[in-house]
Amino acid sequence: MKFYTAILYFSCLIASVLGQTSTTTPAPLNAGVAITNPVLNATAYAGSNYTISWTILDPNATTIETISLMDGNAAALTLVIHNILTNGSIPVSDLHYNWTIPANLTSRQDYALAMRGNNSYVTYSSFFSIINNNATSNNATSK
Ligand SMILES: *[C@@H]1O[C@H](CO)[C@@H](O)[C@H](O)[C@H]1NC(C)=O
Ligand SMILES: *[C@@H]1O[C@H](CO)[C@@H](O)[C@H](O)[C@H]1NC(C)=O
Ligand SMILES: *[C@@H]1O[C@H](CO)[C@@H](O)[C@H](O)[C@H]1NC(C)=O
Ligand SMILES: *[C@@H]1O[C@H](CO)[C@@H](O)[C@H](O)[C@H]1NC(C)=O
Ligand SMILES: *[C@@H]1O[C@H](CO)[C@@H](O)[C@H](O)[C@H]1NC(C)=O
Ligand SMILES: *[C@@H]1O[C@H](CO)[C@@H](O)[C@H](O)[C@H]1NC(C)=O
Ligand SMILES: *[C@@H]1O[C@H](CO)[C@@H](O)[C@H](O)[C@H]1NC(C)=O
Ligand SMILES: *[C@@H]1O[C@H](CO)[C@@H](O)[C@H](O)[C@H]1NC(C)=O
Ligand SMILES: *[C@@H]1O[C@H](CO)[C@@H](O)[C@H](O)[C@H]1NC(C)=O
Repeated sequence: MKFYTAILYFSCLIASVLGQTSTTTPAPLNAGVAITNPVLNATAYAGSNYTISWTILDPNATTIETISLMDGNAAALTLVIHNILTNGSIPVSDLHYNWTIPANLTSRQDYALAMRGNNSYVTYSSFFSIINNNATSNNATSK
């Protein structure tokens, strides 16, 4: 909370310094970032470390508040993990995040990540695969 207040104060400070330039830009429909990894149909392995990376679309975007793991149909994604960030929000300027993929995830080809920015909009990744080579959990979860 303290950390957030500090960011808010800092960005207000920047905003007041840069406030003279008045360009009207439409409200962004994403978190101000574009996810560059995973790419479409990338393969990741349950239980391994995976680097999520992104580029900056909106230079004013400050933080990524949550990264959710979803799966299923693009029109109605199902939430699998609400937030994979283990230590709260992360700065957009990090440009990557090292994710330890849980060992108990089901093998699927239709996972997607959803990053929620500090502007409350969401950026989605392409669909990608997570493969679980763990025989026990595969048997327990495959249909
Ligand atoms: C970034 O913020 C400044 C100051 O509020 C504003 O003038 C500018 O249009 C913003 N840029 C974008 C891409 O939203
Ligand atoms: C990605 O995988 C889906 C499902 O397997 C397939 O339909 C699609 O053609 C693939 N796209 C690319 C670009 O490989
Ligand atoms: C993943 O990264 C963490 C932290 O750097 C490390 O402790 C762990 O051994 C790594 N796991 C694998 C499977 O490489
Ligand atoms: C949140 O992000 C927007 C741009 O995406 C930026 O203009 C704004 O200053 C940020 N707000 C905070 C509280 O960091
Ligand atoms: C967790 O985040 C705090 C700031 O919110 C930071 O000081 C600390 O180093 C972070 N810990 C790890 C393990 O990244
Ligand atoms: C993330 O992983 C990359 C590649 O393994 C490594 O160079 C980098 O230091 C790691 N970053 C953090 C914050 O652990
Ligand atoms: C295998 O799956 C079980 C049950 O989900 C889990 O507890 C275990 O950590 C997994 N082991 C490995 C090596 O992935
Ligand atoms: C995986 O394990 C976590 C606890 O470590 C649990 O909360 C979650 O429900 C498990 N997911 C699946 C798909 O079994
Ligand atoms: C899971 O399936 C594999 C091959 O399909 C089999 O060899 C293994 O014994 C099964 N494990 C369990 C716990 O049923």
